[in-house]
Amino acid sequence: MGFMSICQRTKAVIMGKTTYNILAPDHLPLKDDGSLVVLTHDTSMKSPQANVLFTDKKPREILSLLKARGHTEAVIIGGTATVDAFMKAGLVDELILVVEPVLFGKGLPLLNQDLDRRLVLLDVKKVNQNTVQLQYSCSSS
Ligand SMILES: NC(=O)c1ccc[n+]([C@@H]2O[C@H](COP(=O)([O-])OP(=O)(O)OC[C@H]3O[C@@H](n4cnc5c(N)ncnc54)[C@H](OP(=O)(O)O)[C@@H]3O)[C@@H](O)[C@H]2O)c1
Repeated sequence: MGFMSICQRTKAVIMGKTTYNILAPDHLPLKDDGSLVVLTHDTSMKSPQANVLFTDKKPREILSLLKARGHTEAVIIGGTATVDAFMKAGLVDELILVVEPVLFGKGLPLLNQDLDRRLVLLDVKKVNQNTVQLQYSCSSS
């Protein structure tokens, strides 16, 4: 719920090809509204959804492209490789973590890089009975 409403607010969503393949075709955000950018080296890919752009451009070029389309903010929804690329480029202002009440012993990291960054808590929302959403400022200063 929280994730889809953030996508609806920004109208610009960035994801990696692995995440796209998990969500497509039925669970993609922004049904033909706004811009959905998918990072991949295979730019010949086609999507049933007309607003999907497959690109191998660098993070900064992707932001310029979205700006040229009139977007003032975008959400990066994952996965690790994609979040990593934008974090490394210093282009992430905020981090939103949704804490789900599930314990498991294995999983994927949020980032794949050596990082030690202090965050500033901006907001806490209770999404439902057991789930909270934490919003942090992520600027490096
Ligand atoms: N918990 C969550 O909220 C959440 C959210 C999203 C995803 N996930 C999970 O994260 C996992 C996927 O993460 P992931 O790191 O493996 O994959 P990913 O970031 O979704 O996609 C990786 C693919 O994106 C392309 N890519 C990434 N960076 C690129 C760059 N700089 N230039 C060009 N292409 C680039 C490459 O595709 P090519 O090989 O085609 O070049 C790469 O193989 C899944 O298990 C998914 O369920 C979890």
